[in-house]
Amino acid sequence: CGIIGIIGLAPVAPLLVDGLKRLEYRGYDSAGIATLTNGSIDRRRAEGKLVNLSELLERQPVDGTIGIGHTRWATHGRPSEINAHPHANERVAVVHNGIIENFKELRSELAAAGHSFETETDSEVVVHLVRDYLEKQMSPQEAVAATLKRLEGAFALAFVFAGRHDLMIGARRGSPLAVGYGEGEMFLGSDALALAPLTNRICYLEEGDWVELTKEAALVHDAEDRPVEREVKQTAFSGAMIGKGEYRHFMQKEIFEQPAVIGDSLHSFLDPLSGTVQLPDLGIDFSAISRITISACGTAYFAGLIAKYWFEQIARQPVEVDIASEFRYREAPMPESGLGLFVSQSGETIDTLEALRYAKRCGQTILSLVNVPESAIARESDAVLQTLAGPEIGVASTKAFTTQLTVLACLALATARARGSIDAAREAALSQALLEVPARVAEVLNHDTTIRMIAADMMEARDVLYLGRGSLYPIALEGALKLKEISYIHAEGYAAGEMKHGPIALIDEDVPIVVCAPAGPLFEKTAANVQEVIARGGKVILISDAEGIARAGDEAAHVIELPPVDPFVAPLLYTLPMQLLAYHTAVLKGTDVDQPRNLAKAVTVE
Ligand code: G6P
Repeated sequence: CGIIGIIGLAPVAPLLVDGLKRLEYRGYDSAGIATLTNGSIDRRRAEGKLVNLSELLERQPVDGTIGIGHTRWATHGRPSEINAHPHANERVAVVHNGIIENFKELRSELAAAGHSFETETDSEVVVHLVRDYLEKQMSPQEAVAATLKRLEGAFALAFVFAGRHDLMIGARRGSPLAVGYGEGEMFLGSDALALAPLTNRICYLEEGDWVELTKEAALVHDAEDRPVEREVKQTAFSGAMIGKGEYRHFMQKEIFEQPAVIGDSLHSFLDPLSGTVQLPDLGIDFSAISRITISACGTAYFAGLIAKYWFEQIARQPVEVDIASEFRYREAPMPESGLGLFVSQSGETIDTLEALRYAKRCGQTILSLVNVPESAIARESDAVLQTLAGPEIGVASTKAFTTQLTVLACLALATARARGSIDAAREAALSQALLEVPARVAEVLNHDTTIRMIAADMMEARDVLYLGRGSLYPIALEGALKLKEISYIHAEGYAAGEMKHGPIALIDEDVPIVVCAPAGPLFEKTAANVQEVIARGGKVILISDAEGIARAGDEAAHVIELPPVDPFVAPLLYTLPMQLLAYHTAVLKGTDVDQPRNLAKAVTVE
């Protein structure tokens, strides 16, 4: 979910809706705002996309100069107007991101005391608690502080109070919340992006903080209600960074930005002149790590899987990789001198954050790779590496993934050097291959039209299989995930060699099989798997280089020829056809590419 709050001079409704547009990537199944009209709480809420709320506001405008807004990704309670935030009674309105874990207990307690509930949400308990405290003659500040002490779970909250045009309160525990400083106006937002056109002076609240805002100032309190100072930073985000430009969708724009952002991310660790990887001083001795444990979710997890191949092959470094939601609960023993590596675009994914905390409790050194350096995951790490992908708005991750791969490749090279497992000539060759990636990726983008034609052939499919071997196996997984996410076609990624152990049973003329197979040591094996598919009438889309296509392309239904590259960097190149194939299939099917159904970009709930 996404939260915004504005206390200002002019009517805030248009600015709230504008801020919610930039937060819509965090959820979009309902939206709402609350302002004060002559001191009374005035709410507008609508099920579905933000545009429904905008239309409602045209019919029924509000004109308060203080207000809060919310865009929702449903957890407790189905998406509906009644469950949409803000939740409110005649004294207080609240927007909430996260989960109140003890809401059932609180709800029964409040119901027993005579409160009646309107919604199915966990969030509604908050307004009942605050009203109770207000009715006991507490001030809004005291009522919020007392309420926070009753809540368990991870959340960010923003409140406005009837009769108080001069006061907004925000609170953060587990879910992100930033305070923005304007001229005679103050803001709250789930991230700096939401506030980008309003201000670039931002203060990130810390765990347990709550804040009182007036038009002129912010007074931050810590979890024990003591006033504290928090640093105000200038953010680099600008309003211009979050437009679609000449593109039809954010996802398309982000796919085409990849040569540039891979280049940016690469050059911050690999100097093109010296041709060697230089990491900043992370305070980690990479020659003395017993094992790296990588944990992440979704697409970031696939980046971790590829990194495992790199660390093992190039750096001879033992690596374990797991999905964060599994890792955090499986009570894995962790070795002495182990490094926990957490990969997350947003840096806010709660499962990844909890996996990090587990690894920390197990005495691991914590390194994170994030796109948002102010995020919770970055803040709780011993050391942080950053991808320079810029804001990624499309819910399906594209440039965040390839920049993660870029930085992980640099990290693998640095680890190899520290462990003495690579000689200078090989290191130079691999560095050179990496340095050429932005140019090669730009070449791959030239296949856009061909891929759109292949997509036209694929859009009728009910199931699609993706196959790859070695470090291309996770690319097959990512290809299948991309297609599922945005085109709603069922797809499976499989290790090519595993196909004969099950998925081969699915193959017939109606199942397209996308094969990622650059020429190289594993090519003949994959080519044999391709033959097995063709022998059963399967329609193969072969993605390879000239050599591979010459050897196995004849019987394929379609081929996509990529430039020949060192196998080390092949995963970076082969990702792009996966993205474009999913993108064009989704566009042809007419789905909502940037905001696919049921998904959210940053998942701050378990
Ligand atoms: C969500 C997004 C995915 C993303 C995953 C992990 O499910 O829809 O695109 O890969 O979260 O996000 P993170 O921000 O931790 O990389």
